[in-house]
Amino acid sequence: MTLQAHCAAVLHYTASSSADLSSTHAFQPHYFPDGALAIDTDSGRVVACGDAESVLANYPGIEIKTYDNALIMPGMIDTHIHYPQVDVIASYGEQLLDWLNNYTFPAEQAFADEQYAAATADFFLDELARNGTTTALVFGTVHPQSVDAFFSASHQRNMRMICGKVMMDRNAPHALCDTADSSLTQSRELIERWHGKGRQQYAVTPRFAITSTREQLEVAGQLLKEYPTVTLQTHLAENLDEIAFVEELFPERASYLDVYDYYGLLGPRSVFAHGVHLTDTDYQRLSESGSHLAFCPTSNLFLGSGLFRLHKQPHPVSVGLASDVGGGTSMSMLQTLSEAYKICQLNGTSLSAHEAFYRVTQGNAQVLGLDHCIGSFNSGNEADFIVLDLNATPLMQRRQSTCHTIEERLFALMVLGDDRAIAATFVAGQCLYRKVSNKELSN
Ligand code: GUN
Ligand code: ZN
Repeated sequence: MTLQAHCAAVLHYTASSSADLSSTHAFQPHYFPDGALAIDTDSGRVVACGDAESVLANYPGIEIKTYDNALIMPGMIDTHIHYPQVDVIASYGEQLLDWLNNYTFPAEQAFADEQYAAATADFFLDELARNGTTTALVFGTVHPQSVDAFFSASHQRNMRMICGKVMMDRNAPHALCDTADSSLTQSRELIERWHGKGRQQYAVTPRFAITSTREQLEVAGQLLKEYPTVTLQTHLAENLDEIAFVEELFPERASYLDVYDYYGLLGPRSVFAHGVHLTDTDYQRLSESGSHLAFCPTSNLFLGSGLFRLHKQPHPVSVGLASDVGGGTSMSMLQTLSEAYKICQLNGTSLSAHEAFYRVTQGNAQVLGLDHCIGSFNSGNEADFIVLDLNATPLMQRRQSTCHTIEERLFALMVLGDDRAIAATFVAGQCLYRKVSNKELSN
């Protein structure tokens, strides 16, 4: 064992009930103002977490790393993001369907080239690390080589990632379409190659009901039966024109969600992005099937999709937080929380700082079925953590100086913070990113 103690304020959350992520009281904060996170850099796992004095007393001789004005937290988790869309983030003036046709589909065609995909995956993963995100549920493109490139890059960095090849066989440019048969074969090959290799996991990824035939949705259901430990990711009820199109394409189904339900795509390993416009019956089916929604605030505002109901659900559905880049406008989960807070304000509810930081760590780990290994500092967990600089900008420094409680500090951090607030990012005990300070630059 090679032990290291990372010393600063330390904060993490544990869940009181893994069943109820819709409840704002389902978590317990653990805050140590003079804390230490002890890790074993050989195994890449957490050894202990608590008050520095007691942690250091229990491990005499442990190597000590100290950070000033810092907060150590579990690495943040993003439950829905598209790595090929770093090329279309911040594209002007459209709602969902036009945005897909005019910006996204043209850009995704470049990922037929594996070298382009590999270079983009490197860029994307470095950006995630720079933003303090250590795990994400990620869309590739229709090209299997886009997923090979992604997993090669994330495996090399030892990041815990979930990714899948997009399945789409209609209503998209020919160059981006597969078939029901080829999507079955290619998804299977990718699952066999990557699922469970190191920290990599596969997600069956039908893009959304508009771009899949009945035959292809059947294939998606078949893959989930064949491989019960893979994730399912897709989009659901994001935009009113999208919903109308789905109703035209599947007149035999009761709702957009019912299309996925009919083909066996609901369940505890399923993450549906958006769900902005759902009926009470839809909430009920999501709830009783144990499915998850991914709330994508910056995307919902940017594409004008609507206001997600985080706290006002007619039936309790588990909800993750997500950036949805490139419909979303920031890879920072801090900025994602800031926009989530504002959407809750418009819905007449309030997202507290503790709920917010719980959701982007332990909560999102639960959504992805990974809370047994990431999302908190329980002993034995994988040591994915970030060091946050609470004084990253002059304004943040000034505002922090007026804060009295950890709740106030966290709230200012999520509203004002972004990539500048990430001082360092560690995965499995190894430093993947460290911000170069102004002081170091001038030396
Ligand atoms: N629905 C289908 N595809 C997409 C996508 O790429 N982004 C978003 N935001 N919604 C989608
Ligand atoms: Zn998306």
